Amino acid sequence: MWNISDEVKPSNRAHVQSLKRKIAAACPPVLPKKRLSVIHRLNCFLQLWLLKIIAATYFFVRRLFINSPFAIRPTLVKRYTCRLTLEVRIFFPPDYEGNSRSLLPLYFNIHGGGFAVCDAQIDDRFCTSWAKRTGMLVVSLNYTKAPLNPFPAASYDIAAVIKEVLEDASLPVDKSRVAIGGFSAGGNLALSATQLPWLKGIIKAAVVYYPIVDFSHPPDVKLAAKPYTNSPPDTLEKSSWIFDWGYVSNGQNRRDPLLSPCYAKREDLPPWIYMVGAEWDMLRLEAQVMIHHLAGLVNEEDPMVDAFEKGNYKWTVAKGCSHGFTHDLGGGSPDIQKRRQTCEMIYQEAYEWLERSVLGCQDGK
Ligand SMILES: *[C@@H]1O[C@H](CO)[C@@H](O)[C@H](O)[C@H]1NC(C)=O
Repeated sequence: MWNISDEVKPSNRAHVQSLKRKIAAACPPVLPKKRLSVIHRLNCFLQLWLLKIIAATYFFVRRLFINSPFAIRPTLVKRYTCRLTLEVRIFFPPDYEGNSRSLLPLYFNIHGGGFAVCDAQIDDRFCTSWAKRTGMLVVSLNYTKAPLNPFPAASYDIAAVIKEVLEDASLPVDKSRVAIGGFSAGGNLALSATQLPWLKGIIKAAVVYYPIVDFSHPPDVKLAAKPYTNSPPDTLEKSSWIFDWGYVSNGQNRRDPLLSPCYAKREDLPPWIYMVGAEWDMLRLEAQVMIHHLAGLVNEEDPMVDAFEKGNYKWTVAKGCSHGFTHDLGGGSPDIQKRRQTCEMIYQEAYEWLERSVLGCQDGK
């Protein structure tokens, strides 16, 4: 159906080796997006707009009738002049005293949704508990969506709003302790926006959950190379084609590091990175290869392990979980209790890792 690469149905091992070699290349060859057949595009157009309408209706109704419980509402909702249409949701840690002069470390959160759907509101629960757990000021960002705003619009939205938040004197922010993170497409955007020149060096750490980091391999190649069997159907099996259609324009270089951060140079990314992959996720392998590469585990024989921490880089595979598990999406363990425990464990690890990376270093070390 889609013929953008030389590898037709690679084995898992061959796929990993080829991805390793490509991201290690000093300058991976340009891979422009090809225009696909009219039928394919029409199909994607209809499906993506249908999905967007359903999602927008869902959020509209939810806002009207189901006011989110008081306990997970943001402390503040603001808009910044650079992007007046994009609401910014701000969560203070519960023990913060309004009149205190202490400055808080800052965490930017970016929601997922295939670059095309959802709203920052879906992360309210996470943001509330993350602010409580870490004592950080959590700022949850919205961004413009595909297909009307394809790549790189969202990266620039995120970077522009971050800049204004950092300049906002009304927020008690310690600018030497800033981290970013996101889920799925939001994880991609976290690794993309931080490469933009005016954010480089400002954001010390990124925590990304099941991100897409490689747009240069089509979904069928990723599905064929997935390193697991006997899993529930992949959350993204059907939708990755339509998200790709909406987000990546014809002619766009699929190996642009802003689009596919696995091709970014180490020094262009935040100096500390923690990646969390879901075991049953067709996107797990690319994140796994990227983080192994960043940590210097680059030899052909180096196995892809399920968890490591080496230098500034950390990796965890959430066992028995699918893409979207943190938000109770996707198949995977039918046991919600177990999935929640996995989330709890991972969030705690992420927090402890942040303490070692950004939170501990007062005074801009
Ligand atoms: C979030 O961004 C989308 C896409 O631009 C926009 O349609 C929506 O109104 C925004 N929502 C809020 C609450 O800012």
